[in-house]
Amino acid sequence: MSLNDSTKSKLIPQEVIRIKRDGGIVSFDALNQFLSGFLAGNVEDYQVAAFLMATWLRGMAAQETADLTTIMRDSGKVLAWDYPRNLVVDKHSTGGIGDKTSLVLLPLCILEGLYIPMISGRGLGHTGGTLDKLEAIPGMEVRVSAEKMRAMLDRFHGGFFGQTDEIAPLDRRLYALRDVTATVESIPLITASILSKKLAEGIGGLVMDVKFGSGAFMREKSDAEALANMLVATARRLGLQIRCCLTDMGSPLGSMAGNGLEVAEAIDILKNEGPADTTRLSIELAAHMVMLARPDSDFDQLCARLHGHLASGKAFEVFADVISAQGGDRRSLEDRNWFIKAPVRRRVELPSHWDDGAVIESIDVRRLGVAIQMLGGGRMKVSDRINPDVGLSALKRVGDHVERGEPLAEIHAQTVSDADAVANLVAAAFVVVDPTTTVPRENLVWKVLS
Ligand code: URA
Repeated sequence: MSLNDSTKSKLIPQEVIRIKRDGGIVSFDALNQFLSGFLAGNVEDYQVAAFLMATWLRGMAAQETADLTTIMRDSGKVLAWDYPRNLVVDKHSTGGIGDKTSLVLLPLCILEGLYIPMISGRGLGHTGGTLDKLEAIPGMEVRVSAEKMRAMLDRFHGGFFGQTDEIAPLDRRLYALRDVTATVESIPLITASILSKKLAEGIGGLVMDVKFGSGAFMREKSDAEALANMLVATARRLGLQIRCCLTDMGSPLGSMAGNGLEVAEAIDILKNEGPADTTRLSIELAAHMVMLARPDSDFDQLCARLHGHLASGKAFEVFADVISAQGGDRRSLEDRNWFIKAPVRRRVELPSHWDDGAVIESIDVRRLGVAIQMLGGGRMKVSDRINPDVGLSALKRVGDHVERGEPLAEIHAQTVSDADAVANLVAAAFVVVDPTTTVPRENLVWKVLS
């Protein structure tokens, strides 16, 4: 048998696995038969697990990755809209700590005339999920019918929606197997997983926020860049306009992390009273989304106009309209302190021997995410319930100067023992050096690929 399968004849599952095991290229038809067979219950989990491991070890060619993406997209419902396709845009992030930018981007892009059918996921592992953040808003309903989604887009040009079982069901089945077979970290498998779900939304353009650094899925810049390159190449083959922003997750985003706390900080940003880093990143990501629809725009002018939408209060009003149309309590949004209500608060301070203060040299951001998970703000398993009130605030960034007695972070916990249980973990996440040291800061956006 040749290494590459160029036949249209039916291949038995072990032949598909063998081609991949030996580094060959599986044809669209063979891959489609194999994976449709899996969904139909005719190909066994252990055969797909072997195929996934072979893919993890051998990789996939560009066309094979595009084929896998297409098969995954078409395994479920593919949404179609009546709006010009170039105006239907979304953003996806590979996941971080404190990343509340989606809440800010949606109203900003709506004000620029885009349509945003934002379908988001829940947090799993140490990173947060947009749906969990939105559900910290009382009454907010993210599980909506296709009719409600269409009505939201017609009336408001956007909405925040949860992924339904109808979108890319093959991704869910494959992801569950990848999770238990150590095959999540494969660039072609990640690419197909992300793009299949986004393509099923019926969008014409996608901005990807591919994060690198200690809090990211891909810690190394080189790995994040390899993923971004594969995302761009695959999206192009499938006719999707894409911009990939490679952004720093070596510091938490903003000063608050945890579901309700992030809604509070998103409200601050929407009122132009938020932290500079997250405000800037939200504006830049929104500007890239607009550039996909209107490529001739001037990026700097666009950023200035988007900033104006925050300063004028218009972005906050659009956000509040969308949230209340989805059942969210508008009054809670008027006072961000409504979301800051954990019963126990504990400061994590610089150790006392740093009399003259210190500078933060590095942060193990993943540990901060794990601390939030342990406080009950994230899930250990899919069925866990989230406590929206817990998390961390007053978070510092790499390069920040901290005075003696000043917090590195403040824990928001349900009980004193919960706060005790994570205090050392949070303290150990921060590496500090002498206050005279100059610690260079990473640019928040390192590179943009398109
Ligand atoms: N996010 C996804 O949606 N899929 C992956 O495989 C990894 C991250």
